Amino acid sequence: MGAVLTAALPLTAQKESQIRLMSGGEGQVIPKEIYGQFAEHLGTCIYGGLWVGENSTVPNTNGYRNDVLQALKDLKIPVLRWPGGCFADEYHWMDGIGPKADRPRMVNNNWGGTVEDNSFGTHEFLNLCEMLECEPYVSMNVGSGTVQETAQWVEYMTAEDGPMAKLRKQNGREKPWRVKYIGVGNESWGCGGSMRAEYYADLYRRYQTYCRNYNGNRLYKIASGSGDYDLNWTETMMKQVGGRMNGLSLHYYTVAGWSGSKGSATDFSVEDYYWTMGKCLDIENCVKEHMKIMDKYDPKKHVALIVDEWGTWWDEEPGTVRGHLYQQNTMRDAFVAALSFNVFHKYTDRVKMANIAQIANVLQSMILTKEDKMVLTPSYYVFQMYNVHQDAVHLPLEVNCENRQVRARMGRDGDERTLPMLGATASRAKDGTVHVSLSNVDLENKNEVSVDLAQLGVKSVSGKILTCKNITDKNTFEHPDAVKPTEFKGAKVSKGKLVVKMPPMSIVTLELK
Ligand code: AHR
Repeated sequence: MGAVLTAALPLTAQKESQIRLMSGGEGQVIPKEIYGQFAEHLGTCIYGGLWVGENSTVPNTNGYRNDVLQALKDLKIPVLRWPGGCFADEYHWMDGIGPKADRPRMVNNNWGGTVEDNSFGTHEFLNLCEMLECEPYVSMNVGSGTVQETAQWVEYMTAEDGPMAKLRKQNGREKPWRVKYIGVGNESWGCGGSMRAEYYADLYRRYQTYCRNYNGNRLYKIASGSGDYDLNWTETMMKQVGGRMNGLSLHYYTVAGWSGSKGSATDFSVEDYYWTMGKCLDIENCVKEHMKIMDKYDPKKHVALIVDEWGTWWDEEPGTVRGHLYQQNTMRDAFVAALSFNVFHKYTDRVKMANIAQIANVLQSMILTKEDKMVLTPSYYVFQMYNVHQDAVHLPLEVNCENRQVRARMGRDGDERTLPMLGATASRAKDGTVHVSLSNVDLENKNEVSVDLAQLGVKSVSGKILTCKNITDKNTFEHPDAVKPTEFKGAKVSKGKLVVKMPPMSIVTLELK
C-alpha cells in the first residue's frame, strides 16, 4: 500500500503559513518530565530490549545492553515508569529481589503468557535509573497485591533502617535509592482490578496512607486515572480523593478502536495517515475536558494531570508473538510524537508529566532490538530533537495555516475533524536560546512559514530536519538509517523575521540566537 500511497500524490505545491508569538510573553516552564518514558514487562521491552543478563553474548554492562544504554543516555530521559501497565497489578516485587538463581519464575498473564525469570527486578530497575540519571516512577500493585506488600516495597527502596532496609542491604544495596514517583494502581477500571471509580477511590486512600516518606525521600503519589474520555472517573477521584494525590493519570492512545484491527503500522493509506494526525491531536480536547473537572475541585492546581501512557497503537507486526505488542514505527509515528508534545507544552500548568508507551519493542517505541542489533525509530529522533524544550520556558504562539478536513473515524466516512497542516511550538532555554519546532504534516505541499520575531532580538538560526520520501518510511535492521535527522539549511532570519522553507512531511527544530 506504501507504493499506492506515493503514486497517488499530486505534484508538490507551495503553501504559506504565519506564526506570531502571543503578546503577554512567556508561559510556564515545560517540565522535563513531559519527555518521560515507560518500560513494562511486556514482550521484549525489558527482556531482550533493555536487559539481556550478564551472561548474554549481546554486549552488556552488568546485564544491560550497551547499545540501548548509550542510546537512552543520549535521549536525556527525565523519568522512567515501571513495571507496568497491566503487568504492575500482577507483580509481586519480592519475587524479583535476592540471588537471581533463587527467584521464582512467573507467567506474564497479561501479555502472551510468557514465562519470565524475574531476573529484572527492583535493584535492576533502580540501578538503571541511576545510570540514566532519570527519576524512577514505580507502579504499585493494587489490583492483586496487598497494602502490606506496597508499604514494604516503599520501605525497601527508600528507608535507611528497619527490616526492609536490612533485607535490601543483604541483597547488596547499602544506601536507599531516591524514589519520587509512585503509581498507586494502573487502569484500575480495567486490567488493574475492574473497579468502579468509587471503590478505587477508597482503595487509593487506603493504600497511599501506608506509603511513607522515609529519611527525607518525599513521595509524589499518582492515582490511577481515566482512559480517554471517562470523565466520571476523574470527577469521582477529584471529589473523593482530592489533595491526597499529587497526580491523577490519564491514558490516551492514538488507536482506531479496542476491538478488531487497529491497522498496520507500516502499510496505510493517505486517509489513514490524516486520520492518525486528527486522532492524535484530539488529545488536546481530551486533556481539556479532564482539566475542566479538575479545575472545578482544585482551582489552585495542586493535583497534576499525568499522561502516563500515550502514543500510537497498531496491529502487531506479522510473524511476531501475539500479545507482545511489537510494532514498527514510521514517519507517521514521528508526527504523532511531535504533535503530542506541541499539545503538552500548552498545558503544563496542569500536565506535569507524560510517558510514551513504550521505550523499546512495544507500541510506539524509541528503540527496536533483534538479538544483538538495535535500530532507533523516527519517534526516537523526535524525542531527541525536542529535548531542547525540557525545562525551558514555553513561548505561546498563534499559527495561521491551511486546514484539512479529515476523517474522525479510521476507515469510515462520516464525521470529520479539522486538521491544521502545520504544528508548532517554541520555548526559551535558561541560556536565552529560543527553540522553535515545526511540523509540516502535509504529504504533498511545501510550506513557507514566516515567524514574527520582533520581540526576540534573534540574529542567527541553525537547525535539524527529520523528513522522508514516503510517509511509510521506517528504520529496519537492514536499513537502520533510512529516517534520520540531518542539518537543516532552509531557515533564514532577516529584519526580525524568520522564514522557514519546509518540505512536505517534515519536522524541524530550530535554534535561534
Ligand atoms: O501499554 C500497554 C498497556 O496499555 C498497558 O499495560 C496498559 O496500562 C494499557 O492498557
